[in-house]
Amino acid sequence: MDNRPIGILDSGLGGLTSVWELHKELPEERVIYYGDTARTPYGSKSPETIVKFADQLVSKLIAGNTKMIIVACNTITAWALDELRKRHPEVPIIGVIGPTVRKVVAGGSAKVGVIATKGTIGSDMYGKSLRELNPSIEVYSKACPAIVPLIEEGLTDTDIMELTIKHYMDDFVSAEDFEDLILGCTHYPLISAQIEKLYPHLRLYSSSAEVVEQAREVMRERDIFASGSEFTDRYYASDLSENFINMTEKLFEGKDFKVRLLKLEE
Ligand code: DGL
Repeated sequence: MDNRPIGILDSGLGGLTSVWELHKELPEERVIYYGDTARTPYGSKSPETIVKFADQLVSKLIAGNTKMIIVACNTITAWALDELRKRHPEVPIIGVIGPTVRKVVAGGSAKVGVIATKGTIGSDMYGKSLRELNPSIEVYSKACPAIVPLIEEGLTDTDIMELTIKHYMDDFVSAEDFEDLILGCTHYPLISAQIEKLYPHLRLYSSSAEVVEQAREVMRERDIFASGSEFTDRYYASDLSENFINMTEKLFEGKDFKVRLLKLEE
């Protein structure tokens, strides 16, 4: 047993969708969440910058006595997970891509679409990892860079979001003819209802949810499940935007939480 909290990070508020899944699946676990809202989005930044920013967040989470780190961001997972594991071997660090890929391959998918940020698509981490497990799988990828800023602005359920989704996806979906779609960005579950409405034939896989299953496995292997912890979840954001607070309230309605300012050294 280990009652220390799990550290969860994202470039902004998208990783809260993984916290939501974690609360649902593993209600005994407590979290410290870091959202780098001051520097979001990461998806259009260089790999060096992504590693530098992510390392600041992870180092601080580990200094805060966390038992495990969940990188609830595909962009960070794609570009920085290996480096973060090298720099911090003392704590298990898991990312969102591996668990999602395993789930899709286990589901028997033959043709799969992936939507994500420019950074994640540019890394081809989904394509490479899917083909490693199933060399004959066909993978079609599409970067949708304007979606994260709209979500960070709180514009989830709006006409402008619907137009943006259609702008990226109409031709992509009709040209490539896949039935499975990976939401390769932890922000996207916040717009999955709109995607389902526009493309009801697609089966959606959420990277935010799949990582929680891997967290369960890691905790089982190491015997570090929490039980009766008195720690209260803590949410930190590097910019205390109204949107972050609103989204946290919406996702964790009825739960006891407070959003605090995350101070990062330059
Ligand atoms: N939630 C992040 C991801 O999964 C969004 C990245 C961004 O900041 O662009 O990739």
